[in-house]
Amino acid sequence: MGDLATLVRQTLDEVAASTTLAALDEVRVRWLGKKGLFTEQLKALGALPAAERPAAGARINEAKQALQSAIDAATEKLAAAAIEAELAAGRIDVSLPGRGEARGAVHPVTRARLRIESIFRNSGFEVASGPEIEDDFHNFEALNIPADHPARAMHDTFYFPDGRLLRTHTSPVQIRELRKGRLPLAMIMPGRVYRCDYDMTHSPMFHQAEGLVVDENVSFAHLKATLQGFLQAFFEKELRMRLRPSYFPFTEPSAEVDMSCVFCDGAGCRVCKHTGWLEIAGCGMVHPNVFKAAGVDGERWTGYAFGMGIERLAMLRYGVNDLRLFFDSDLRFLSQFGAA
Ligand code: DAH
Repeated sequence: MGDLATLVRQTLDEVAASTTLAALDEVRVRWLGKKGLFTEQLKALGALPAAERPAAGARINEAKQALQSAIDAATEKLAAAAIEAELAAGRIDVSLPGRGEARGAVHPVTRARLRIESIFRNSGFEVASGPEIEDDFHNFEALNIPADHPARAMHDTFYFPDGRLLRTHTSPVQIRELRKGRLPLAMIMPGRVYRCDYDMTHSPMFHQAEGLVVDENVSFAHLKATLQGFLQAFFEKELRMRLRPSYFPFTEPSAEVDMSCVFCDGAGCRVCKHTGWLEIAGCGMVHPNVFKAAGVDGERWTGYAFGMGIERLAMLRYGVNDLRLFFDSDLRFLSQFGAA
């Protein structure tokens, strides 16, 4: 019985040294379990004289209780620490912004094309397209550009060995649509075109949008109103527009379309070369020879046509100063354009 105090101290030391719940449980089993050392002590009471038993029993039970509460306290502490550790390991900051999904962007040329299509659709035009590999008839002949015509020299055409070619403009789609014989018509025809030309302001592949309206009594005034309306809608700006007499084999009369500069509003700046005007399209009334080649009765029908460069429209609309940016596939440039 004399060692009871020593036993208690030894047990308390072991409790204090236990750093895990499992170690603590081992201590409990070893000292207080069914075959534990304190239980052995209680069993040994039987050997004592009857008079000493109650006092000795009480001391042992007291010691047992003290140890039990020390173990309970230590268990509680370790359990709390274990929960803390688990929480700390799995901590997430629910207030952090989500990672999100990377969104693709629409190429600025595509974006400009979609914008052109939607504006014309809204005023009753249909959207049509034609092949990029064309024949001489559709690209030139039927557009009143015969073999010896000087206008051919301006087109820097890519030819295939069999005489076919990469279309140099979207005007051949006019012929294809007219030859379907469904009149009246109002069409916008965007697409890729090719010219053997490459420098700061020219790319061998670029995009045009061709317009064609054929009906009875279509006049130059209609053409002018349509173009003015389109430009205002495209640039979302009040603009001045002027038509300068020009020449295209497939229209008569023909004109070059200028609009007041979208950057300086006509005051004169670097973009408009201090003229206050930007050249934006070619246009005119459909030439009788074009109608003839397409099998359209030019006595009954009249029409206007126009053609414009989509890259040029995109550059002016989005403030892009170098044509090559459109074709370099540099994501730092392209990702600046959101969805259409
Ligand atoms: N096809 C011409 C070109 O590529 C552009 C053009 C001018 C189209 C006048 C037209 C037009 O329809 O009427 O330069």
